[in-house]
Amino acid sequence: MCGIFAYLNYHVPRTRREILEILLKGLQRLEYRGYDSAGVGIDAGNGKDWESNAKSIQLIKQRGKVKALDEEIHKQQDIDLDVEFDVHLGIAHTRWATHGVPSPVNSHPHRSDKTNEFIVIHNGIITNYKDLRKFLESKGYEFESETDTETIAKLVKYMYDNRESDDINFATLVERVTQQLEGAFALVFKSVHYPGEAVGTRRGSPLLMGVRSDHKLSTDHIPVLYRSCKFKLLFLAAVPYPGKLWSTTLPLMQGKQIPVFFPSFYSVQTFFAVIEHTNRVIFLEDDDVAAVMEGRLSIHRIKRRAGDYPARAIQTLQMELQQIMKGNYSSFMQKEIFEQPESVVNTMRGRINFDNNTVILGGLKDHIKEIQRCRRLILIACGTSYHAGVATRQVLEELTELPVMVELASDFLDRNTPVFRDDVCFFISQSGETADSLMALRYCKERGALTVGITNTVGSSISRETDCGVHINAGPEIGVASTKAYTSQFVALIMFALLMCDDRISMQPRRREIIQGLRVLPDLIKEVLSLDDEIQKLATELYQQKSVLIMGRGYHYATCLEGALKIKEITYMHSEGILAGELKHGPLALVDKLMPVIMIIMRDHTYTKCQNALQQVVARQGRPIVICDKDDYETIKNSSRNIKVPRCVDCLQGVLSVIPLQLLSFHLAVLRGYDVDCPRNLAKSVTVE
Ligand code: F6R
Repeated sequence: MCGIFAYLNYHVPRTRREILEILLKGLQRLEYRGYDSAGVGIDAGNGKDWESNAKSIQLIKQRGKVKALDEEIHKQQDIDLDVEFDVHLGIAHTRWATHGVPSPVNSHPHRSDKTNEFIVIHNGIITNYKDLRKFLESKGYEFESETDTETIAKLVKYMYDNRESDDINFATLVERVTQQLEGAFALVFKSVHYPGEAVGTRRGSPLLMGVRSDHKLSTDHIPVLYRSCKFKLLFLAAVPYPGKLWSTTLPLMQGKQIPVFFPSFYSVQTFFAVIEHTNRVIFLEDDDVAAVMEGRLSIHRIKRRAGDYPARAIQTLQMELQQIMKGNYSSFMQKEIFEQPESVVNTMRGRINFDNNTVILGGLKDHIKEIQRCRRLILIACGTSYHAGVATRQVLEELTELPVMVELASDFLDRNTPVFRDDVCFFISQSGETADSLMALRYCKERGALTVGITNTVGSSISRETDCGVHINAGPEIGVASTKAYTSQFVALIMFALLMCDDRISMQPRRREIIQGLRVLPDLIKEVLSLDDEIQKLATELYQQKSVLIMGRGYHYATCLEGALKIKEITYMHSEGILAGELKHGPLALVDKLMPVIMIIMRDHTYTKCQNALQQVVARQGRPIVICDKDDYETIKNSSRNIKVPRCVDCLQGVLSVIPLQLLSFHLAVLRGYDVDCPRNLAKSVTVE
């Protein structure tokens, strides 16, 4: 879950200061992916000739956020920021520790040796690194870090030192390295042996290339060069490839002005790492090796697989930098909470006709008949996205009349859950890159199930690998704690449920009721957001507590889970979402006059049971804070403290009941002095298992 960013300027003169600024800015945009340490690798020479400057590499690494790295760079005595480079490759990394504690030595770039012949940045996990390390140690390589990535840096040097001919190119070396790697990776390499050249590759972890040219691009597609490989290199014996490896590179552009950017992740946030430089991008596929050599980009792979396109399109991103600015908000999370009236409209835009109560989901139209015939629906996701599945399960069961399972992706895989050809499996994911969800997707595909993606990220792995899907259109979500994606996933799943029963006469009154509920939902969200001051006041009363319990049932069990997750992840307080029906089976023992309890009581079919739970809590001297309908006078009378929200159709009420908890977690975190957008130990996209 790290962020990698590289910048290559080819005959575009840049000072070292400018290069570092570009690299650090790129890292800052990717910082949501991990922020326990950061580092850069740049050319070390200070002379006039770029090629000689590139004969040595300088690494600067620091524990902490990118800002700490910036400070460290400015402390370096031997670094001349005004030296100009005609050609230069800089690579940079922001880390979220998986192997080894956050420290400068464990930070990337990692190096092949003390003279920095090869350096590499990595996002992902190498699962066979212990074997590789053992092998390399047996060959005399000395390791300095505890990371899996360092084996890659050493391995590329091993391949170089054992090359069969002097004119071996950089891409070939990298290809040989990737053949030895197991696990997931996006990698960018730099080397003193290949000045001004960059090589990037991926498997399992995404990698995007941004390209800019002052000239018209000569092509919209980069053909992929395939060649057969007779054998896989064994790392115990480096067997040379037969014959010539690849003979042509294809001109990406006319002319020479080619800054190239490699950010590591296809989320909207990654796009922002690149969008300020260029909106022309190439999405690399698994096992692509992209090399820029003498201003030419070439993409290679060993062999063509079924479904693989023989070219990579240069795509144009349609987005503006302003979309990710915080505006007047103190954090992205706060901005995203307040964007919800618009984000849910964007989810519904062009898909619901409120006049004739119809729903159209273009991404499902070719598969909807097949979905209607399926034997069951399985919703698979992690974290908040899983809660969106829990929140909508009941209405999905009601409107589709199908069994609906909601599964945490990791547990689903751990159990080797039986999946059949007539199952339809949904993968709900804001980023579309969550490793567990992605692996569950591949697992279901292998078993012949139809797969449907519900994601917020066009071009993400989940959106590309599923058979069909719905893009939730919530807009960029940058705060690590998911808010607007949750409500948009919720609405997207409801739209799917409505579509599934559009020709069922018996369902029409219920469909109309829900569709008209969706029509007013944005205004009702605005009304809930107007409670912000009241919720901030509540936060001042709660922020020094150690724990908060959140109870509810039916449609609001998901709200309890989601509210508790928000509180945990950004305030570091203990919080638990409790199904009110389970209260007597254990959790009631936690209740006393000191324990903060939030209860969600709405006037739906669980109302009487929720009232009973309220009585049980009050009888144990609990003083619950109740989130309830604004005109539910009975509950208001029976509770010492309440947050009154407007009433909506029962199955949509969860969109409204979660917002006070989003706001509460935000204010609690601010009062406790924490960085709301970057909670400790977490990252926005979890691309490792
Ligand atoms: C919590 C949160 C996480 C994500 C989870 C899945 O606020 O954001 O729990 O929901 O990591 O991520 P996606 O939706 O990108 O698959």
